[in-house]
Amino acid sequence: MGEGYDISELRKFVAPEFVFGAGAAELAGQYAANLSVKRALVVSGPRLEGLGVTGAVADVLAAEGVAPVVYTDVSPNPRDAEVMAGAEVFRREGCDAIVAVGGGSPMDCAKAIGIVCTNGRHVLDFEGVDRVKRPGPPMICVPTTAGTAADISQFCIINDVGRKVKIAIVSKTMVPDVALIDPLLTVSMDDRLTAYTGLDALTHAVEAYVSNASSAVTDLHALEAVRLVRRHLLRAVERPGDLEARSGMMLASTYAGLAFSNAILGAVHAMAHSLGGLLDLPHGLCNAILLDHVAAFNYRAEPAKYRRLGIALGADIPDAMPEDEAGEAVLEALRSLKRSVGIRDNLAELGVTPADLPLLAQKALADACMLTNPRQPSAAEVMEIYEAAC
Ligand SMILES: [Fe+2]
Repeated sequence: MGEGYDISELRKFVAPEFVFGAGAAELAGQYAANLSVKRALVVSGPRLEGLGVTGAVADVLAAEGVAPVVYTDVSPNPRDAEVMAGAEVFRREGCDAIVAVGGGSPMDCAKAIGIVCTNGRHVLDFEGVDRVKRPGPPMICVPTTAGTAADISQFCIINDVGRKVKIAIVSKTMVPDVALIDPLLTVSMDDRLTAYTGLDALTHAVEAYVSNASSAVTDLHALEAVRLVRRHLLRAVERPGDLEARSGMMLASTYAGLAFSNAILGAVHAMAHSLGGLLDLPHGLCNAILLDHVAAFNYRAEPAKYRRLGIALGADIPDAMPEDEAGEAVLEALRSLKRSVGIRDNLAELGVTPADLPLLAQKALADACMLTNPRQPSAAEVMEIYEAAC
């Protein structure tokens, strides 16, 4: 053995068991009972609790003999202290499993609570790739947005408030045991949240597709996710109750999650994590603002792949079109999708100043997602990309 192959070409594909479709959330109690759960920490956010979604999931748990303990002290961009406080509630209440109900923030917080409980360490000790020794307790995720795919992925992003940086915990132990992916739960998102989360899904697909850790399996999911976003995002933004559009976006998010969880991400996420840590900004909006600017930088590293992305977004890019022109068509396809769903923001409007750029660039270059970007930028180039997005 050892002859005739390149070990760097091997690819692993990890995914949780998941149930997809309207009504999937109703199965939370049954799944928890099958896992012999007695008392579940239900990690959710104030918005979902206000809408009654958290309570509804708690009720289906209780109906199957699983006692719910609700924890909703979770901010957008969940903080290290919230993870540690949630872990304390888990221990104090004698919980034996976690059910996450919400978008990326409650799901990431829930994943982190799990490993803090089983490993008895501070959440910030797990920063990086494969740093988690023991898996967390059984975890069921019930996503309520269509974009983050934290219910699918081996990623967990936590805001290190002291250092003002978002840390990435990447580990197979971060993949939940079960994801119950129910598009009915996404109809309560307003147009802004729908656009932000939908463009997060698009960014996952684009970054996974051009990642230098991509594979035939992740490419398949990534390209289909882009097609689904093109077909369904605007409709979901304009008609919140349109279940076909909501299901299309939920599927897009799931496919993009399967792609990026295994192919990892790139400079958009590295730079968005840096922004989110410094200024506590919405993740999807940061990605949306940066997406075409990073594509402009990356294009020449993967021109054929960007062409296919442009075509999946509906751009007319014949084979004979010269490379520069094709690149411009891809960028315009990304920009027009952003505009169509109302994203016209720039980073300056969000409070980014020229004085922030060196630190933002330094943190972005240190982010694990930068490693798989198809073109490695210098600090000066990262600052230029931020500047172009201001
Ligand atoms: Fe993301």
